[in-house]
Amino acid sequence: MTTDPAPATTAPPPTTMGKGTLSRQLVLRVTALVALLTVVLGLFTGLASYQILQRELDERVQLAAGRPNTGGFTGRGPGDLNGLGLVRIDYYDGAYHPSGITLSDTAYAQLLSLGPTNGPITVRLDGVGLYRVMVRTQPNFTLVGMPMSDVTKPLTSQLVMTLLLTLGVIVVAYVAARRVVEASLRPLKRLTATATQVSNLPLERGPGQVPIRVAAADANPVSEVGQVGLAFNHMLDNVEGALAARHRSETKVRQFVADASHELRNPLASIRGYAELTRRGEDALPEDAAYALGRIESESDRMAVLVEDLLLLARLDSQPTLDLHPVDVTEIVLNAVSDARAADSDHKWSLDLPEDVVTAMADPHRLHQVIANLLANARTHTPAGTAVIASLRAEDGSAVVSVSDDGPGVAPEIQPTVFERFTRADASRVRQDGGSSTGLGLAIVSAVVKAHGGSVELDSRPGRTVFTVRIPLA
Ligand SMILES: Nc1ncnc2c1ncn2[C@@H]1O[C@H](COP(=O)(O)OP(=O)(O)OP(=O)(O)O)[C@@H](O)[C@H]1O
Ligand SMILES: [Mg+2]
Repeated sequence: MTTDPAPATTAPPPTTMGKGTLSRQLVLRVTALVALLTVVLGLFTGLASYQILQRELDERVQLAAGRPNTGGFTGRGPGDLNGLGLVRIDYYDGAYHPSGITLSDTAYAQLLSLGPTNGPITVRLDGVGLYRVMVRTQPNFTLVGMPMSDVTKPLTSQLVMTLLLTLGVIVVAYVAARRVVEASLRPLKRLTATATQVSNLPLERGPGQVPIRVAAADANPVSEVGQVGLAFNHMLDNVEGALAARHRSETKVRQFVADASHELRNPLASIRGYAELTRRGEDALPEDAAYALGRIESESDRMAVLVEDLLLLARLDSQPTLDLHPVDVTEIVLNAVSDARAADSDHKWSLDLPEDVVTAMADPHRLHQVIANLLANARTHTPAGTAVIASLRAEDGSAVVSVSDDGPGVAPEIQPTVFERFTRADASRVRQDGGSSTGLGLAIVSAVVKAHGGSVELDSRPGRTVFTVRIPLA
């Protein structure tokens, strides 16, 4: 037989600003996009500036080459030409006349070796770097060169500016994106808080009211988060409705059980009364009729106990009416064990009581019933000779009563549900003492202990079974 794999219970606990959170991803992506756009924009403007500056330089070179220069370059003095880095060679009076910056011999020879050019060309001049140079041979030989630094210098400072601007834009984009994303995801966080609150509600019992809703501002369908909030509220309405319906039907069933148990008491009392009446004339009865009468009596006794148990459970379910006051638990344990000892001498009964008095807030009659039920189980579900120890101690503000035995233990298959109604192992259908088992004893123990604000637990394996009851101290 195959069993379905257990459904995944809960996802691993989420981290608030982990690597994968939506807000972090959004912020990083927006910043990256802005950075990319700024860089692309910077590159384009850089390229455009380069072209404009180069064209301007070429125009200046062409202009200068078109201007005749006989007897020295006028308009600006040689000092200016030096400062501008201009190179000029004119041929007149049968000789070359260089002007502008001083060139090395190699550079000079390099320039003179150039033929006529259609427009400015780029030349790497020895010792001075890149130049845009233009050579004309008509009407006379004229060579003009201007340094490329006129283009590269402003371009470099523009690039530096762009870089700084890009960095600034990235920082601003990051901060702004973070703020916007956090602000728009804040309702989602509130939604999470609401969901957590709901998941902590004790919905398994009671009328199942869900008094928590997402605030109206966070459930506005205009935004996506608001739509989630609205859907969440609808879901809570639905859950609340379903729980209320369940509660109503449970209440009906409880009421029915309480009424039925109550109504069964009277006919049961009549049956027992008539049986007793008939027994008075027992001598006249045939043997089999006397036997049947005995069975009627014992079965109606058992049924009376069952009806009382059901009635008690129904009452504890609806309105636990306990008569709580400070009670000496030591005395109750002592009495319960001596009752058990009187009822059965085949088991070894022992007590482990503290020296100080332990006083708990309890209903003495019901607490006695709890301990008596546990002792009765230790008696009826273990073989003769089993040792049973009832112990009491005060611990962490509770009176702790435990009943342990070294019997065969509670069958493993019923352990998870042993405190539920009508749970019993197959082997317990007929008990050691010959009576038959109903499976209500531990349900009563659990209901009574809970009504006291306490708890009961079981720890059982073959050879050692311990039921531990805790009830708040007075
Ligand atoms: N000390 C114990 N050792 C072994 N099994 C136990 C012990 N106590 C309880 N059980 C098992 O748990 C089942 C449930 O116990 P519970 O007291 O609720 O019902 P019951 O004893 O069968 O019937 P009832 O108490 O109503 O007469 C029992 O049927 C028995 O199988
Ligand atoms: Mg029992």
